[in-house]
Parts: sequence; structure tokens; C-alpha cells
Amino acid sequence: MIYSRIVGTGSYLPPRIVTNGDLAGKLETSDAWIQERTGIRQRHIADESQASSDLALEACRRALEAAGLTAADIDLIIVATSTPDYIFPSTACLLQAKLGVKGCAAFDLQAVCSGFVYALATADSLMKNGIYKRALVVGAEVFSRILDWNDRATAVLFGDGAGAVVLAAGDKPGVHASVLHADGSQVGILSVPGNVCGGKIVGSPFLQMHGKEVFKLAVRVLDESAREVAAAAGIRLEDVDWLIPHQANVRILEATAKRLGLPRERLVVTVDHHANTSAASVPLALDEYVRAGKIKPGHKVMLQGVGGGFTWGASLVTM
Ligand code: UT7
Repeated sequence: MIYSRIVGTGSYLPPRIVTNGDLAGKLETSDAWIQERTGIRQRHIADESQASSDLALEACRRALEAAGLTAADIDLIIVATSTPDYIFPSTACLLQAKLGVKGCAAFDLQAVCSGFVYALATADSLMKNGIYKRALVVGAEVFSRILDWNDRATAVLFGDGAGAVVLAAGDKPGVHASVLHADGSQVGILSVPGNVCGGKIVGSPFLQMHGKEVFKLAVRVLDESAREVAAAAGIRLEDVDWLIPHQANVRILEATAKRLGLPRERLVVTVDHHANTSAASVPLALDEYVRAGKIKPGHKVMLQGVGGGFTWGASLVTM
């Protein structure tokens, strides 16, 4: 049996930090409101010169270094993003060129805030079939570009960043199981309902959200997918060392851990200093905890995505 296993993690945050206080100077909001409702204190925002592929490049360099590999060792690149550099080619192809390699498979995957988990599950399946041996799985986003900075209900929630893992094929798991779901009928609660046609924006280029509905749905599906993936992996929830749900709102994270009966100490929280970085949030959080020495080899980690689509999913991995 072939399994895929995470052998290196990396992440990158653009240097510019925007605090709640900075936003309160421009919007009718306050540090107290943002912290109380979301747990967010600050977010990183990319310069205009930095695209998703630039953020992804730094995260991949760090993940490759941690794995002791070079880009030439990689035969598959999947980038999860909803904020690609171009309409086409894919951000994965642009990233491949920036990594200075050619020939390996490269494509983008769009599942919004579930994107990284969808990408990990996809890479794992391709590797289990023996097709690929070493993959870069990346979440990279510049959500600051699709926010209406005059809308306090959404502008305060998101940030930019990238996270990456190197997956290697081997005879030990690795990725035990993944579950993926979607409900396209929920398109209206979280979307950027716009497109480009004839050189003009049709619809809206800005993120729109019904926060309360997203909140309720997120807590429900995070609970369900955690139980489903644990059952599929044959691992008891109480044996999970770390829970990394998509970093959307600290209240969603804490509600999920509570419903699952997992102690707060096993819940990974980075949303306070990264805000919601969509597809980048899970690999960013994973890398932070690996580099801090908290997540160690042999630990069982549950990774969970939930977001626009509506999409959700989970993977259970041994590091
Ligand atoms: O990746 C998935 C992405 N999205 C999410 O995970 C978001 C999920 N939802 C949430 O996190 C929460 O619903 C929010 C943080 C977005 C909002 O919290 P809430 O407790 O659901 O607040 P609300 O939307 O019901 O708004 C309460 C009040 C409203 O005022 P009124 O109508 O009570 O007078 C809002 O206008 O708070 C007001 N408000 C704000 N006030 C200060 C909304 N945004 C802000 C703001 N600052 N930034």
C-alpha cells in the first residue's frame, strides 16, 4: 500500500501588518468589536506588487528546505486559491516557473476556504495510485484584493498569506483518510459574484457574506466532517493530538472543539494574528505549530476546511 506523508511545511506572510486599530481609523468599527466577535487582532496585507504566486513561492521554498528537497524533486504542484494571479494560466504554472522547474504536473484547485483540504485529498489520491511521488500542496491568497474596504462587516475578517506542504509517497501513513463535501445551493451566503466580460466587470468584484448563516453552517459541518473522517481513518477523536479547523473566527473554532469534546489545548488557533486567509489558513497554522515545536513527528492532526461553495472537508494525518 502506498501512502502520502507530509515531510515538510512552510509558510509566508507579507510583511505589512494591519491592526484592528488601523481599520478603526477608517471604518466605523473598533478593536473591541472585532476581538469580541472574531478573536482577530491583526492581519497581514500584501503589497500591490505581490501576487498569490509570489506568496506561494516563499512558502514552497521554506517547505522544500524543511523537507530537504529541491523543486526538481517535485512531480506534482497543486495550488488552492480563489485569488489567482491571472484568469489563466494557473497560479500553479506561474509558481512552477518561479521555482525554476518545468515538466511536472501543475494545476489550481478552487474550493475557497476548503481549498487546501481539497488539494491535499486530491494529491493524496494521485500519490496512492502511484502516479506521483512528491507533491507540493499549497494554499495562497490575496483576499485583500477582493474585499470592499468600505464594508466593515467583511473587511475586518480577512488577511493575505500562503502555506505549503511537501507530500512524499511511502509505505506508512501519512494521510489516513479525507472526506470532501459541497452544497452548491448555498452559493448566496458567501461569494464574489462577479466576472470579466468584454473588458468590464460584470456583477461584483467584492466578497459578499451573510455572516450569521455562514457561522451556523460552519460549526455544523466542521463537527460532522471531523466525526466522519475519524471514522473513515479508524482513529478515535480523543486520540487526535491537534485540531486545525479553517481559521475563520475564534468562536467557530472553540465551538467546534467543544462539540467534539477536544480540550482547548489541542485546538490550533492562529486566526488572532493571521485573520482569515482562506485556502492558506490551514497550512499557515500547521507550519506555525510545526516550527514552534508543538506539532511533532508522530502526532495525529486533523485538518479541516469550510467555506464558499458551500464546501467543506477534513483530512486526518500522522505527521
Ligand atoms: O471562511 C468562512 C468565512 N466567513 C466566516 O467564517 C464568517 C462567519 N461569521 C462570523 O464570523 C460572524 O457572523 C461575524 C463576525 C461576521 C459577525 O458577527 P455576528 O455576531 O454574527 O454579528 P452580526 O453580523 O449579527 O452583526 C451585529 C452588529 C450589527 O449591528 P446591528 O444590526 O446589531 O445594529 C452589525 O452592523 O454588529 C455590526 N457590525 C459591526 N460593528 C462594528 C458588523 N460588522 C461590524 C464591525 N464593527 N466590523
